[in-house]
Amino acid sequence: MDALDLVIRHARVATAADTFDSDIGIKDGVIVMLGKNLPKATKEIDAAGRVVTPGGIDGHCHLDQPMPPPAKMADNFDTGTRSAACGGTTTVIPFASQVKGQSIRAAVDDYHQRANGQAHIDYSFHLIVSDPTPDVLQNELPALIREGYSSFKIYMTYDDLKLDDGQILDVLSVARTHGATAMIHAENSDCIEWLTRRLEAAGQTAPRFHAHSRPMLVEREATHRAIALSQLVDVPILIVHVSGREAVEQIRWGRAHGLKILAETCPQYLFLTAADLGLDDSYLGAKCVCSPPPRDKANQEVIWDGLNDGLFTVFSSDHAPFNYDSPEGKKPEGKEVDFKYIPNGIPGLETRMPLLYSEGVLGGRITLSKFVELTSTNAAKTYGLHPRKGTIAIGSDADLVIWDERAVTIQNTNLHHAVDYTPYEGIELKAWPGMTLLRGEVVWDGTHFYGQKGRGQFLRGGTPTITAKRV
Ligand code: URP
Ligand code: ZN
Ligand code: ZN
Repeated sequence: MDALDLVIRHARVATAADTFDSDIGIKDGVIVMLGKNLPKATKEIDAAGRVVTPGGIDGHCHLDQPMPPPAKMADNFDTGTRSAACGGTTTVIPFASQVKGQSIRAAVDDYHQRANGQAHIDYSFHLIVSDPTPDVLQNELPALIREGYSSFKIYMTYDDLKLDDGQILDVLSVARTHGATAMIHAENSDCIEWLTRRLEAAGQTAPRFHAHSRPMLVEREATHRAIALSQLVDVPILIVHVSGREAVEQIRWGRAHGLKILAETCPQYLFLTAADLGLDDSYLGAKCVCSPPPRDKANQEVIWDGLNDGLFTVFSSDHAPFNYDSPEGKKPEGKEVDFKYIPNGIPGLETRMPLLYSEGVLGGRITLSKFVELTSTNAAKTYGLHPRKGTIAIGSDADLVIWDERAVTIQNTNLHHAVDYTPYEGIELKAWPGMTLLRGEVVWDGTHFYGQKGRGQFLRGGTPTITAKRV
């Protein structure tokens, strides 16, 4: 074999299965050798004393997704993937979202145009199915799944996106027949509307009342219903952005009955609480308006337990980037509006991996292998990208993070997204990626970003290779 392009020496390599000391030999962007004392390469990096993990795969983030006006996302594929890379993520999977009345194919074509030549890291697409017409169900979706758009999200809430139970059954049937992964946003829309009307009538419209309009039982009911619908069709589903105990209990119930329920949670349910939406009527709470809303400290512990014991399959950011001080963001048309008009979602692409590494691994809450499983390997398996992505193995892409264990305070001024705030401002961490490599090339060295617009490649999704374990 020709000389290696790069050897990373003396790495403490972590995979979802184990942790071992090894050099990593890379040729043409692929890992070709693992072992000690590898031959000399054109370039060498000494990782002595440092942990090396697979690059993160953020299986749930929103970038440049068309929104109903006046809302507009602050991050596009350029700024979003730049930010992801600086936080240790090397693959993102945002959503090509069907607007009602639009064909999904048109949404996919439009989304490719938005991504083409812009991404600094690799990317795949999920679909959002908001209008499952007979043509979508019989023709478009099956064809798109065959072409590598093999995962889609369906919503049980939001007027412009939600499906009724019959429509959900139809879409799940397509997932079953054609081997796709269905992701479900589980909140009961009618309950939210009813509660919102009562809050409005009582003049309770500040951002903090967003959390009152979406209590845990709203998520619990929808989670249980989604599980029942998946059982009826006999198809696995992934319940996304699970926020706390009540939804967790439903998923545990489903798993205990042998149902194929995968689950995702996000940093906001570990590091924020409803108090971050405000203790008074300050509008600053708009920064943390997301759905489901963050809960309380006791629920954070329930989420940590679920990460540790295998209830959760994946840990994603649900990065939904809206500026705070913007007429396109949290202040529609420049105004402080009632909570129901605040665009939902918070930024988190860059902070996802460091938060979990620091508080989870170094805080002694999860093992290093569990961290790798949750942030990378299981997303690769769920979305059909494994083993090219999501592991450190011979033949896999050399997407790697070399961790620096050092004190870091999260400050928005140091982040690389285009959003004017981070909900995690001031949190003190014990680690940050000291180096991120995409297919063998350094894109972040702990201080500088070396991205290249258009270097990110589109990845076709494939058949899931993961099953829901009993927990
Ligand atoms: O509030 C949230 N989560 N916004 C992003 C869209 C979604 O539902 O994931
Ligand atoms: Zn959602
Ligand atoms: Zn989302």
